[in-house]
Amino acid sequence: GLNLRGRSFLTLKDFSSAEIYYLLDLAADLKRKKRSGISGQLLKDKNIVLLFEKSSTRTRCSFEVAAYDEGANVTNLTNSQLGKKETVEDTARVLGRFYDGIEFRGFKQKDVETLAAESGVPVWNGLTDAYHPTQVLADLMTIRENTTKSLNSIKLVYAGDARNNMGNSLLIAAAKLGMEFVALAPKSLWPDPKLIAEMQQLAKKTQAKITLTEDLAEVKGADVIYTDVWVSMGEEDHFAERIELLKKYQVNQQLINSTQNKAVIFLHCLPSFHDNKTIIGSKIEQEFGIKEMEVTDTVFNGQHSRVFEEAENRMHTIKAVIVATLGS
Ligand code: CP
Ligand code: NVA
Repeated sequence: GLNLRGRSFLTLKDFSSAEIYYLLDLAADLKRKKRSGISGQLLKDKNIVLLFEKSSTRTRCSFEVAAYDEGANVTNLTNSQLGKKETVEDTARVLGRFYDGIEFRGFKQKDVETLAAESGVPVWNGLTDAYHPTQVLADLMTIRENTTKSLNSIKLVYAGDARNNMGNSLLIAAAKLGMEFVALAPKSLWPDPKLIAEMQQLAKKTQAKITLTEDLAEVKGADVIYTDVWVSMGEEDHFAERIELLKKYQVNQQLINSTQNKAVIFLHCLPSFHDNKTIIGSKIEQEFGIKEMEVTDTVFNGQHSRVFEEAENRMHTIKAVIVATLGS
């Protein structure tokens, strides 16, 4: 059988489709176990550390609760020397001697790779500028729970900034699993051409279909409409430009209707700009006169939305990743 013990989880590129399905099945088992109130000890006596250079609600809490549920101890390391007085390499060498696993969220993909190379323990990518692989596991789990189709016959349309970590990671998952992936975005925000070429190559083997388009009509037949913020963490000076480029691709009721699929589901990794009730949301309204960005409040809270199930599934899938790579 499959054995992921000792492996890092840095990008889905490193995982075969069988390994991805293994993690999804394990997550479903762990979810059932938690629902029936059975407490676990799969991570008993393990110590894990969480490093966040960027903000987080879901990812941080998922790692903590997942670890606690299975008996591990967690350090949420804030205010470390990393990046200020100490290099990533030296930090990795130190943490690897204390901990059984390391979660990292930050800017550079290179940094999470260095942590993995130098620490000698499994490292989990909790989001970088390039990828957000644990998020995609939760997305795939949510799709599986909400359709009777198998993943390789799902059409997923990603509308918005397809060049960000989510666009990249969903493209990789689709190519690996033989899904139909549509990046619905202005050409300047299509995924990196190198990544596209690599995934097109893979798609030949997996029967995946990858489409990059500016044509809204391509949503027809979608099983999943996915979007993410137009401005990712670290890009906060790009609001004006992104709103201009992306307003046409907002996920609103009209776009949902254009799928002509009554069973279509809406997913979003969250957090999302669907209202003006946040500090940034109210600033956006003042400056640009819009209350909603990548998704309207109606769709976000509407009958097709599965965003909170998806958020819950972050915990179950992250638990699967930790258990598979560290568990006994
Ligand atoms: N989706 C996600 O990663 O959420 P957080 O930024 O809150 O962790
Ligand atoms: N693309 C977003 C995802 C947040 C979970 C960001 O990087 O900010």
